[in-house]
Amino acid sequence: MRGDDEDASAGTAPGDDRLTAADVAEGPLPVHVACVMDGNGRWAARRGLPRTEGHAAGEAALLDAVEGALELGIPWITMYAFSTENWRRPPDEVRYLMGFNESLLVRRRDELHEKGVRIRFAGRRDWRVPKRVLRRMDESIELTRDNRRCTLTMAFNYGGRAEIVDAVRRLVADGVRPEKVDEKAIRSRLYYPDQPDPDLVVRTSGEHRISNFLLWQIAYSELVFDEVLWPDFRRHHLFAAVRDFQRRQRRYGGVT
Ligand code: FPP
Repeated sequence: MRGDDEDASAGTAPGDDRLTAADVAEGPLPVHVACVMDGNGRWAARRGLPRTEGHAAGEAALLDAVEGALELGIPWITMYAFSTENWRRPPDEVRYLMGFNESLLVRRRDELHEKGVRIRFAGRRDWRVPKRVLRRMDESIELTRDNRRCTLTMAFNYGGRAEIVDAVRRLVADGVRPEKVDEKAIRSRLYYPDQPDPDLVVRTSGEHRISNFLLWQIAYSELVFDEVLWPDFRRHHLFAAVRDFQRRQRRYGGVT
């Protein structure tokens, strides 16, 4: 279902001031973009639809954002799809989201694979995630494991604090002595130590918070908050976020 107050098409018409990839391609590009896909419930409520319809409509936004990243040549994208706190949502919605994420993989993995996207998942594989969902996740990882054009990480049953707790558990299990605990020791035990930290984090729907997303990794990320509700997000919103990013001065605590 498409929003009727927003043209969901990715193309541009004459006189259209929406950004294209060419508008930002010359500037410094983020290597890793992470998105908090927020606003599906509000998008649905505004249309008198159940929240789940908002999630369903979010699929097109997700795919178009990935297309936009591919167009720009961004090699790492991370999408927050389900948090360790999202189990608190109504049971019907949680059930829907599990099935939705499973079916999304089944329906979309081949096309992502053909585009050279490697699919990975960050998060806890605990008892709450249905076995059939884990199976689809493993199949998608296996299918796309050799792709390198872009790595799409779905943060699923993911929490930034849980990730740090899991890293600390590994440190302890590895018998690392206190004096040997440093940032490198922790980083190497995060879910994906090979993944560069996000340069840019985009959150939609006008909420200005992080909600437990990639807490370790976003220490020096640039944050862009967009009012658009996730189902209306299209690649031109990504390009606009990249343009914002290009206007920022990154200092990492130093001076320029
Ligand atoms: C964080 O806000 C947002 C998320 C964890 C994203 C959740 C996204 C979905 C459930 C939809 C996924 C859609 C697709 C297309 C796969 P929060 O609501 O967990 O935190 P808050 O309470 O602080 O706002």
